[in-house]
Amino acid sequence: MIRNHEERRAGNTPNTSSWRTNLLQPGQPPSIETGRLILRPFELDDLDDLAAILADPDVTRYLPGGRPRTREQTGTTLQFIISHWEQHGFGWWAVNLKTDRELIGWCGLKLLDSTGGVEVLYLFARRHWGQGYATEACTASLRYGFQELKLDRIIALAVPENAASRRVMEKMGMQYEKTAEYYNLELACYSVTRAAFQPGAEVHRVRQGISL
Ligand SMILES: CC(C)(COP(=O)(O)OP(=O)(O)OC[C@H]1O[C@@H](n2cnc3c(N)ncnc32)[C@H](O)[C@@H]1OP(=O)(O)O)[C@@H](O)C(=O)NCCC(=O)NCCS
Repeated sequence: MIRNHEERRAGNTPNTSSWRTNLLQPGQPPSIETGRLILRPFELDDLDDLAAILADPDVTRYLPGGRPRTREQTGTTLQFIISHWEQHGFGWWAVNLKTDRELIGWCGLKLLDSTGGVEVLYLFARRHWGQGYATEACTASLRYGFQELKLDRIIALAVPENAASRRVMEKMGMQYEKTAEYYNLELACYSVTRAAFQPGAEVHRVRQGISL
């Protein structure tokens, strides 16, 4: 399916429009194409690849629980991601490299249960850190949240010691607000408003469904 998209996409590269929404229809999760990445809806078939990413203690160190996830736990997470999209009409995407279609992580938007606010989430496989992928995917997610969902404000949360995550927040133009309790943890909270968000000049394309 992923390769088919590339074949369909050949000869159909982005035009000068910086944010194309004409292919979107309500009710179906979209995919977003950035310079190097494809953000697309997760499928149950992603279990093996996602389980390999979440089995790495470096990746899960600052997540709730702090431990690598078993395959079974990752299966539950995958179900939760899919049901979040069904329930709320938005969520977080699987992130694939455009070059070889490898699943390298996730990124997107999650309803913050306790407040009704929306947070941006991001997580990438260890070997892909430090190449700007989180910043690229998060920028696309924030842009989607502000321009498509018309959110007024998006937050991001991190364990205070998670310096890489905090740096990503800063690079996205988010401002530190406070350290407070979320998910029964003391987390640093950053935020950005729609008015303050700088979407940048990179061309992003939003498409309907898996569309890879
Ligand atoms: C946080 C995470 C998503 C960042 O992904 P990434 O693709 O490496 O992020 P980017 O390359 O876009 O940016 C990382 C920035 O953090 C900086 N950074 C990395 N480690 C750092 C550290 N220990 N201290 C300070 N800055 C650090 C990088 O230098 C880079 O900043 P720069 O561009 O100014 O040099 C990745 O480390 C990850 O998946 N961690 C595990 C899951 C996680 O913690 N997710 C966030 C939960 S809140």
